[in-house]
Amino acid sequence: MLVDSFGRVATDLRVSLTDRCNLRCSYCMPPEGLDWLPKPDLLTADEICRLVAVGVERLGITEVRYTGGEPLLRRELPEIVARTAALRPRPRLSITSNGIGLARLAAPLAAAGLDRVNVSLDTLDRDTFVRLAHRDRLADVLAGLAAAAEAGLRPVKINTVLMRGVNEHEAAPLLRHCLEHGYELRFIEQMPLDAQHGWRREGMVTADEILAELGRAFSLTPDDPAARGSAPAEIFLVDGGPARVGVIGSVTRPFCGACDRVRLTADGQIRNCLFATEESDLRGAMRAGASDDELAERWTAAVRGKRAGHGIDDPGFLQPARPMSAIGG
Ligand code: 5AD
Ligand code: SF4
Repeated sequence: MLVDSFGRVATDLRVSLTDRCNLRCSYCMPPEGLDWLPKPDLLTADEICRLVAVGVERLGITEVRYTGGEPLLRRELPEIVARTAALRPRPRLSITSNGIGLARLAAPLAAAGLDRVNVSLDTLDRDTFVRLAHRDRLADVLAGLAAAAEAGLRPVKINTVLMRGVNEHEAAPLLRHCLEHGYELRFIEQMPLDAQHGWRREGMVTADEILAELGRAFSLTPDDPAARGSAPAEIFLVDGGPARVGVIGSVTRPFCGACDRVRLTADGQIRNCLFATEESDLRGAMRAGASDDELAERWTAAVRGKRAGHGIDDPGFLQPARPMSAIGG
């Protein structure tokens, strides 16, 4: 098992398949994009499947989420899903995607064994989408969401990051839209993970503010906290339920104590936290001929050193050198 020195057990593996993306969300990367990882540094599909197998078969990983950048940009995704769905015990499989391309890929991915999707949706307004993501693709995202629901990738979950002066007034309309379509919405506080290092605490719309704003349009009652487990979202029943909404106070209400995540970057580095400053190189070890046992040992050691929390509020906080797009959400 992947246990750290505080007794937390990592069972949820986030695998970034590429650092590239076809959007440029301002809380993530600059409009001109980034220096992408060179192709030879990326894990191959075989290497990804081998590492996921080590995690599932030897280290107690039960949940695998493919992320990016944008994971749908990786052509081998259906193959990777099918190969990892064949592992025993079978892990639960999901993706975090911006939704572009899902209209075409939702059905083949479901057939390959994908269980669920998380899609980012920050606005329902076309102009705001362009301003926020620097591409005119809102219609593709909405079509992708519909295709995911149609393909049975349920519950379709939606992640929203609110930004002051950009989309903060859309909390209630977004929730209404999600309720109408049967999507589960979660608001996430903006974290200091953008490549431009432009995050400012004052610009972050806090969980308290989001709840106050939603409270003006809906009646919210906290769901049973026991049902939360290691999930970062605080869940609220909307207008008495059964509809629900989640708020993830990543910064102001940290949930590090219940964290069960571990991350594998597209270039084969294990990160024990989004905000880790150190990584453990499984790609180098694998390409130098390491056995599965040796890889498992390295991985276990990397998780053992996980810190208690992200420390965003510590005076000495340092934003990780890797942006979100190169870590995976
Ligand atoms: N803060 C909070 N959430 C973020 N995401 C990307 N960057 C940030 C950030 N700086 C979200 C995206 C996506 C998921 C991968 O993480 O909206 O849903
Ligand atoms: Fe792409 Fe996701 Fe970053 Fe937006 S947040 S630019 S969709 S990787």
